[in-house]
Formats: sequence, structure tokens, C-alpha cells
Amino acid sequence: MDKSKRESIGNVLFVALVVCLVCSIVVSTAAVALKPRQDFNAELDRKLNVLVAAGMLEDGQRADDEGRGIEELFEQFEVRVVDLRTGDFTDDVDPDTHDQLRAARDPQRSERLSRAEDRAGIGRLEHHAIVYILQRDDGNIDRIVLPIRGQGLWAAMHGFLALESDMRTSAGLAYYQHGETPGLGGEVDNPRWKGQWDGVKLLDDDLSPSIRLVKTRSPEGSDAARFEVDALSGATLTTKGVEEMVRFWTGDKGFGPLLERLRQAEAS
Ligand SMILES: Cc1cc2nc3c(=O)[nH]c(=O)nc-3n(C[C@H](O)[C@H](O)[C@H](O)COP(=O)(O)O)c2cc1C
Repeated sequence: MDKSKRESIGNVLFVALVVCLVCSIVVSTAAVALKPRQDFNAELDRKLNVLVAAGMLEDGQRADDEGRGIEELFEQFEVRVVDLRTGDFTDDVDPDTHDQLRAARDPQRSERLSRAEDRAGIGRLEHHAIVYILQRDDGNIDRIVLPIRGQGLWAAMHGFLALESDMRTSAGLAYYQHGETPGLGGEVDNPRWKGQWDGVKLLDDDLSPSIRLVKTRSPEGSDAARFEVDALSGATLTTKGVEEMVRFWTGDKGFGPLLERLRQAEAS
């Protein structure tokens, strides 16, 4: 082919079209082929964070490529669905297929929260939530892990909050998805900051959500200090988001009714 024909507009466009076509086939084939792997890894990350929140796995501890280790530990949990309107467990919804975030967008399966109710900034609240229960040998609950979410500074933050058997004391907190700035709001991932959530009281004696993220701690041993976690420095808005979402999900509109039922069951 002579040079002028090879560099004609038609030829250049043809070559560009073929390159685009080949690239798009490669990219879409890779996306389709890797989707199951991506879904598997997302699921594994979710399980890992349930375990981290429950204090059963060190931060940074990993599984092998097939997720063994995490899967084995995760099998100790009983996975149940809770009706958030009543606080009752239900078998009407399958935890294996229930997608809480999708349900929250469906008017048939969620409710719109009023401005006063919506302290976590989630807009709509799904009717059903999945919780993870760790039982003791005597059949009583040792820990329960609750999914929580709420607005951070830049985006919604998604995580897990674990409670001890008294249903008032935190056993741990872990976020698996957020858009906060590394070094500022992103310090929610810092193991040292997260470590403070083991043993802090979430509900006061009247069972009202009372967690406080503070810049200055109350004197050690004081009553107020039991409800305090350090604020994230330089990240007041993320801090407020974390405080509000933990209060929301441990309150009446969140898992409050479930926690009350479990508390009564433990007492009886
Ligand atoms: C680039 C950039 C990123 C920021 N990221 C965060 C963040 O992730 N979380 C947050 O609360 N504040 C973030 N801030 C700071 C807020 O804008 C605001 O100044 C801060 O929340 C005030 O907190 P302070 O009172 O502790 O200084 C960021 C600011 C800048 C300029």
C-alpha cells in the first residue's frame, strides 16, 4: 500500500475503530471474567470486618487465596435476619440473598426517615437487617455484630459494630467502606483508634444511646469516661458522623428493640 493511501482519513479511522473494538472486547471480557472473583473478595472483606469488629481477628491478618481462615472463623457465627420495626428475628427473609442496601432503596421494603429521626443521614431505613451472632457453649449470646452505616464527610461509611452479651457494651468497631481522607477521617481504619471501642459503653443506664467522641477525655474512672472514645484529630465532621451513626443504630429506630429483647432473654 502506498504511503498516501495508508495515511488516508478512511484508513486512519478504520485502524482507530479496530483498535477501539479490540480494546473494548478485552476490557469487557476481563470485567465479566473477573466479576465472580471481585464478588468473592468483596464478600470475604465483609466477613473479615465482621471478625475484626468482634475481636476475633487481628487487623491486617489475612486468609489464603481461597479465603480459608476467614471462612473457618466466620462459620462460628449464626447469621440471622432481624425485623427492625419490631426487633424480632424472622425466617421470612433469606440472609444469603438479602441485600440491605438494595432493600433500603425499595419503598416496599423500607421507610423514609424524618429529619429528626435520621441522625445517621441514611435517608431510608430498610425493614430487615442481617446480624451475626456468636453463641457461648451454654447457648447464650457471647457477642452480636450489627451492620451500621451513615454519612461521613465525603461519602457514606459502612461498617460493623460488635456488642458484648450485656447488649450495652461495645466489643469493637470496623469500617469496610468509606471515602474519608487518609490521615484525617480515614483514621477510622487506624487499629489504635479502633482499639478504644473494645469495652466502651454505648447505652447509659436508661438504655439511651450515649456514646461520645470527645477531644478532651473526662477524668479516668469517672462515670462519663465509660462512654467516651477519642475524636479523630483534624476530622470533626467524620467524628460527628461516627458518633451519630453509632447512636442511631443502637437507638429505637435502629437495633434498639432487638437489643432490648436480647437483654430480657439474657436476664430471664
Ligand atoms: C483535603 C482535605 C481533606 C479533608 N478531609 C477530612 C475528612 O476526611 N474528615 C473530616 O472530618 N474533615 C476533613 N477535612 C477537614 C474539614 O474540612 C474540617 O476542616 C475539619 O473537619 C475540622 O476539624 P477540626 O475542628 O478537628 O480541625 C479535610 C480538609 C481538607 C482540606
